[in-house]
Amino acid sequence: MMRGGKDAFRPRPEDHFTFGLWTVGNPGRDPFGEPVRPPLSPIVIVRKLAELGAYGVNLHDNDLVPPGASASERDKIVREFKQALADTGMKVPMATTNLFSDPAFRDGAFTSSDSRVRAYALQKTLAAIDLGVELGATTYVCWGGREGETNAAKDPRTALAWYRDAINYLCEYVRSQRYDLRFALEAKPNEPRGDIFLPTTGHMLAFIYTLDHPEMVGVNPELAHERMAGLDFSHAVAQALEAGKLFHIDLNGQQVGRFDQDLRFGSDDPKGAFFLVKLLEDAKWSGMRHFDSHAYRTEDESGVWDFAAGSMRTYLILKDKVARFNADPEIQQLLAELDGGKSSARVPFSELRNTKFDLAALRSRGYAYERLDQLTMELLLGVR
Ligand code: NOJ
Ligand code: MG
Ligand code: MG
Repeated sequence: MMRGGKDAFRPRPEDHFTFGLWTVGNPGRDPFGEPVRPPLSPIVIVRKLAELGAYGVNLHDNDLVPPGASASERDKIVREFKQALADTGMKVPMATTNLFSDPAFRDGAFTSSDSRVRAYALQKTLAAIDLGVELGATTYVCWGGREGETNAAKDPRTALAWYRDAINYLCEYVRSQRYDLRFALEAKPNEPRGDIFLPTTGHMLAFIYTLDHPEMVGVNPELAHERMAGLDFSHAVAQALEAGKLFHIDLNGQQVGRFDQDLRFGSDDPKGAFFLVKLLEDAKWSGMRHFDSHAYRTEDESGVWDFAAGSMRTYLILKDKVARFNADPEIQQLLAELDGGKSSARVPFSELRNTKFDLAALRSRGYAYERLDQLTMELLLGVR
């Protein structure tokens, strides 16, 4: 539905917007500079995002419980966090593990050459799964940020077999605990210096079907990560949707050919963002619209909330544009004219063999995509 009135584009929990604690909590550190903002506590984040109309927050284990916390410290932190969730009605639909910050993971986690590191990574993940489930998560993301630094040390086939063993082990754990939890594998081509195994959503999809329990595992495509590989994000998402494997999604912005930028959703490529929103909305996809991005390094805390509010607002504006696209008579007329007749995919082979095609007409036909694209642009630019 097209929105109107003074509350148009004001996010509401039913829009299902979520943010990682690590996104709004990002202090602006980068390889060349120190943090520019003080840390924000998870409780402040939950309260503020609730005020802004978000549905929930997602977290890595260590976004909430610092490494090395004792069992009683952990329980106190989790209790207070749950209270903030209860006070605000915010949810934790997704959880994940930090398998990249600790120097122990310098050679990867599930694909480290050192079997002790691989075992520690699994131990850490089991604990993080318990935490996620305790907070209500039903999706568990695995992102292998350090898997694949150099080929000198290992045969990539062996590394992929270790990776498979790890995901199989985690699935077995979830089954043994009877948790209501599905895994979403997140691809990324590189993390600034090293390459990463299973670099795109397509690679992840192929890998999933080699697992012991493929039905428990889907993907978490991230816009920035596919764009880093120079790919069209909507195509990756469409493949996942079509396969019933879109379990989660990471929305942000990214220019092709750069390292990870994690820009505010829609801020660098509104047209690409529009077609993505169109895909998700036309598919009536019921998952979370999760933002995995962070504010410019120039910002103070109020800039962080501008960033968060802007991410959700842009999505809703684009959703409104989708409704306008779908209701625009000229656009719809052009779309209706595209199909030339009946499809041959299912006709008997003999019938197809004997069909006569007017090849001269097919070869000279124009598709009017310039007009269609321009109408889309005018809609996006606000003159239509
Ligand atoms: C941080 C990464 O930057 C992000 O892309 C990923 O989604 C989360 N961690 C989950 O591990
Ligand atoms: Mg991500
Ligand atoms: Mg990212």
